[in-house]
Amino acid sequence: RNPEKERLLEAYELSAKLYHFLLKNTEHGTEAMKYLRSRGMSDKMIDQFQIGYAPDRWDTLVQFLTKRSFDLKEMEKGGLLSARHEQEGYLDRFRGRIMFPIHDRSGKVIAFAGRILGDGQPKYLNSPETLLFNKSRTLYNLHQAKTSIRKLRQILLFEGYGDVISSWEAGLQNGVATMGTSLTENQVAIMKSMAEEVVVIYDGDRAGMAAAMKVIPMLEGAGLRVKIALVSEGLDPDEYIRKFGAERFRHVVETAVSTTKFKLIYLKKNHILLEEDGKIAYTKEALPIIAALHSSTEREVYLRELSSELNLSYESLKQDCNLLRQSMQ
Ligand code: CTP
Ligand code: MN
Ligand code: MN
Ligand code: MN
Ligand code: MN
Repeated sequence: RNPEKERLLEAYELSAKLYHFLLKNTEHGTEAMKYLRSRGMSDKMIDQFQIGYAPDRWDTLVQFLTKRSFDLKEMEKGGLLSARHEQEGYLDRFRGRIMFPIHDRSGKVIAFAGRILGDGQPKYLNSPETLLFNKSRTLYNLHQAKTSIRKLRQILLFEGYGDVISSWEAGLQNGVATMGTSLTENQVAIMKSMAEEVVVIYDGDRAGMAAAMKVIPMLEGAGLRVKIALVSEGLDPDEYIRKFGAERFRHVVETAVSTTKFKLIYLKKNHILLEEDGKIAYTKEALPIIAALHSSTEREVYLRELSSELNLSYESLKQDCNLLRQSMQ
């Protein structure tokens, strides 16, 4: 037992309750509530994810924690307060932000992510690393998703909080997210211990696709089966659900593509296939990906697709592919 840790856990739990209460039941929360509504957030999800609001004041939490006899220096070290610059004392770390509590696997609040209302920097302010919170070992929403994950042996991996929440409301309750950092080996190991398959559902923009390219070898390297959901129009999953509805989103997840298919789609974006140069350059990048596949059936499937897509003979593609395979051994 670590008494400082216990006290911090209690402070986080109480703070999450306070922020949730302030959002739902006080004047302070009115504007934040309006903002959440405008983004399509339901009361049900606000409760399910214990979303709250930190008022735009210096001392909401300072007062609250003082009244409950917490040591403010300890609370500063624990990431709930900041030390004042000019003088002695402390002030709230989170001010004027929508609060997303981050829980550990057993459901204890260990950190917060605070989103600014509307535009502004930084968009998200996170708790620092503390006695409780190690970002690289934490997956957002794992405590609630674990039931569905164990049942389905599958994890949906998102980039953002809103994506996890909207997907939950759309009926997919095995979603987790990293928190603004790239996926770590620790997070991969956690996923591997709970599931056989991961569907990566990153934002449908360039950054999201590039990030998906990076996590594929990590997940496959750990022995997980991996699929990639193609979220169209540069939208993120949350925006996609708002625009097209739950049913179409579930269809996007169900029809997630193989990592090979995804890599080919990703590479193709850099080339103009109507031009000879583009065709050849794309083929040169695509063939090593296909050549690396162990199953000859799989290789044939992708080579035939490439053949009809580029209007090239299957035989010549296969020949180049085999040459590559020889040089790879
Ligand atoms: N993120 C962060 N700090 C930022 C921007 C992003 O920690 N300044 C993290 C958050 O975990 C965020 C995720 O990266 O959820 C994905 O970023 P982004 O797509 O930009 O944010 P959204 O989750 O889509 O947020 P919103 O819909 O509220 O704009
Ligand atoms: Mn509630
Ligand atoms: Mn993004
Ligand atoms: Mn996003
Ligand atoms: Mn978003």
